[in-house]
Amino acid sequence: MRAWTVWFTGLSGSGKTTLARNLAAWLEAASIDHEVLDGDDMRADICRDLGFTKEDRNENVRRIGYIANVLNRHNIVAIVAAISPYREARDQVRTRIPNFVEVHVDCPLAVVMARDAKGLYKRALSGEIKNVTGISDPYEPPVTPELYLNSAEQSPEEELTVLLARLKELGLLSGKPSLKGKGA
Ligand code: ADX
Repeated sequence: MRAWTVWFTGLSGSGKTTLARNLAAWLEAASIDHEVLDGDDMRADICRDLGFTKEDRNENVRRIGYIANVLNRHNIVAIVAAISPYREARDQVRTRIPNFVEVHVDCPLAVVMARDAKGLYKRALSGEIKNVTGISDPYEPPVTPELYLNSAEQSPEEELTVLLARLKELGLLSGKPSLKGKGA
């Protein structure tokens, strides 16, 4: 079976990267080949020419989706963590990737602002940076994601359990450990 892409979308600070790392650790233990594609890392490298306009964000999503698709073709699970705020761009990626699992990592703005691990929201409120998702830029939630999570109400461990159950339900993970090289 062709490998799959799990696409975590949500506000900065909602817990996408944590979930991506936890899923990666689980796949590693299960000997399932995978790769994490994180927005911050992509922007430090192949997307370093991009800013935060709608056009640039959608281009960021398009490039990440391209890589995810290539990985899937080679039987490697792709785990994407990117705000990816625009529905149209996410849906475009969905049309290209046969096994696309969109996971909305929801979290109230007040909670991500209180967390503010990167100081992003503080900088947004002081006016230092513009186009910050949730403050001065839109976030378009998925209408029918494969999975909805609310990180203000669930622990990362609980979220991973729910996610793994959903992946099994979708037929992407068998209940048994997979053999390395056989894919998911
Ligand atoms: S996306 O919108 O293009 O999908 P992506 O997930 O790659 O965004 O990058 C978001 C990260 O960029 C945030 O976690 C934050 O560290 C940083 N960042 C810097 N400026 C902004 C901004 N204006 N809005 C959102 N994130 C920003």
